[in-house]
Amino acid sequence: MNNEVSVTAVHPDIERVLVTEEQLRKRNADLGAMISHDYTDREVLVVGVLKGAAWFVSDLTRHMTCDFTVDYMAVSSYGAAHKSSGVVRILKDLEVPLEGRHVLIAEDILDTGLTLKYLIRNFLGRGAASVEVAACVVKEGAQEEEVDVKYEGFVLPNEFVVGYGLDYAQRYRGLPYIGVLRPSVYEGE
Ligand code: IMP
Repeated sequence: MNNEVSVTAVHPDIERVLVTEEQLRKRNADLGAMISHDYTDREVLVVGVLKGAAWFVSDLTRHMTCDFTVDYMAVSSYGAAHKSSGVVRILKDLEVPLEGRHVLIAEDILDTGLTLKYLIRNFLGRGAASVEVAACVVKEGAQEEEVDVKYEGFVLPNEFVVGYGLDYAQRYRGLPYIGVLRPSVYEGE
């Protein structure tokens, strides 16, 4: 078996890397420990927002030692463009009722805040006992809606980023780092 460490070249469509694979691993471990500490006495339902948060949920929960279950919801606010359409649509709903449950929403990125604002209100409306938010990325100064993110991964400048679940027109989700997409990729869309 070849045990050499391979150096992965940065994708040519990426202008620069903002968060490395190693930084993501460390931050997920920290967040997982914080969440486990906060939920020692009650079970938490982690709700991943598809598709982007699937990578974050999968890594974060590996660091959680408290009792938890996982469910996913799919919403859309973007379509194929790189700017928010301002409309949140439920594409796939949860499989479990929320009555009396402690919910932790895991989101890939907080941009305008529209999606999370909508989900928090929606989950409280279904009778959740508490709703908190873990966001892998928070875009600095981009929020139009105030959202309280209790578990924050990285605060990044207000630029369009891809990788680690984040896409542009469904591409780049598998990149192991988070980076800024070259504007030439979406200019003229
Ligand atoms: P918000 O509702 O504007 O906060 O946007 C939330 C959703 O928009 C995220 O879950 C992402 O799917 C998408 N999004 C926002 N900013 C970016 C970005 O920079 N890259 C990729 N997707 C983004």
